[in-house]
Amino acid sequence: MKSAIVLAAGKGTRMKSALCKVMHPVCGKPMIGHIVSALKNAGVEKIIVVVGHDAEKVKEYLNDEVAYAIQSPQLGTGHAVMQADSLVDEEGDTIVLNGDGPCIQSETIQKAFEANRDHALTVLSAKLDDGAHYGRIIRDGDGKVAKIVEAKDCSEKERAVNEINTGLFVFKTKELFAGLKEIRNDNAQQEYYLTDLVEIFNRKGWSTNAMVVEDPDETMGVNDRVDLAQAEAWMRNDINRRHMLNGVTLVDPAHTYIGADVEIGADTTIYPNVMIEGETHIGAHVQILPNSFLSNAKIGDDVLIDSSKIVDSQVDAHTTVGPMSHLRNHTHVHENCRIGNFVEFKNSDFGNGSKCAHLTYIGDSDFGEKINVGCGVVTVNYDGKNKYRTTVKDGAFIGSNCNLIAPVTIGENALLAAGSTITDSVNDGDMGIARARQTIKAGFGEQYKKK
Ligand code: UD1
Ligand code: CA
Repeated sequence: MKSAIVLAAGKGTRMKSALCKVMHPVCGKPMIGHIVSALKNAGVEKIIVVVGHDAEKVKEYLNDEVAYAIQSPQLGTGHAVMQADSLVDEEGDTIVLNGDGPCIQSETIQKAFEANRDHALTVLSAKLDDGAHYGRIIRDGDGKVAKIVEAKDCSEKERAVNEINTGLFVFKTKELFAGLKEIRNDNAQQEYYLTDLVEIFNRKGWSTNAMVVEDPDETMGVNDRVDLAQAEAWMRNDINRRHMLNGVTLVDPAHTYIGADVEIGADTTIYPNVMIEGETHIGAHVQILPNSFLSNAKIGDDVLIDSSKIVDSQVDAHTTVGPMSHLRNHTHVHENCRIGNFVEFKNSDFGNGSKCAHLTYIGDSDFGEKINVGCGVVTVNYDGKNKYRTTVKDGAFIGSNCNLIAPVTIGENALLAAGSTITDSVNDGDMGIARARQTIKAGFGEQYKKK
């Protein structure tokens, strides 16, 4: 049985934030979310998150993906792990991680479990030029791990050690909880340190081990906003690299911001200053031009997106969007459509081959196939109290500058004359025209000029 205990009860004082530390996003996803995903991908069967500060926010976010232990008050990392005692299966191994280490990869988690096969405890250590605020790994004459000393409790000699505790441990579960009964809080911070288990295990003759991680940045702990930006940069680089190796062209990866859960097909090209977040899926051969923002978007193959914003919406194959358009709130634009300049779609369906090229608002509407929407068309969906739907059927032609006062239905192959304000439905094949007739005043222009 592989279990995990994630420590996420602390406030994160050094973040100077109203939001608890583990909920701060890195590449668009809370730190705690990255850790839970990595544990799941590594095949960990039981995940317990120790919550305290902002417990409700953490629970609301992770929902029933994990089990929870409550730590209140927060008396240190060892005390935090104790709170999970009754929730963990005694058999097998438990990995303990800090909720503020968002970059950890599932491969490293798997290696850590393997490294602990013949040991009671394996700590993941890292070699740094400067150990900074991290706990130091102190080895004895034979190179065996003797103890971990917190930076605040270090002697000068210990502080000079450059092998540090990443905060990630694997334990034989039974020994973990037996050892925790013996930790004390007689240290600089008067906390129950998880790190004291190394000495306790050694005293009991339970085998302890250290595994040095290949890339110390992967196990960095985020304590303040400077660390947060470093984690963001590391993860962005990692995500972008993965997409490039999968056949996606990033014209300037340093200025391309892609979330951890985004999927992108091969031969898609992404230009600079593009941000893609959430559960976004992008097809193959898509072009995303500069200054586009996509969040929870589903984009088909061969789509072109130019400086546009697409949120919680879907765009199907061979459609073009933009420049400067905005699709939102469950909009679905089907195949071979053209959404042009300065167009906003909200909660609307737009059928295959339909076009809407300029300066238009379509809200709460169902448009069929092969419809042409002229410049400056507005669906008037809101009367100040309620919203109403507009329906336009296949092949209709909506002249420029028409207002469609919802609820209203425009029939198949119907025509709306430019400049009409349409309040009544128009049947299939008919024309709706709703504007004052033009009159001509002969010579009036000349006379006016002379006055
Ligand atoms: C801890 C380690 C340190 C290690 C570093 C790696 C201890 C005593 N120190 O120090 O050796 O080098 O991580 O990043 O373990 N938390 C709780 N309850 C508490 C205290 C903390 O849940 O009572 C959680 C925090 O929310 C956080 C994590 O544990 O996610 C680590 O706590 P933090 O205070 O950041 O520990 P460090 O001082 O960084
Ligand atoms: Ca920390």
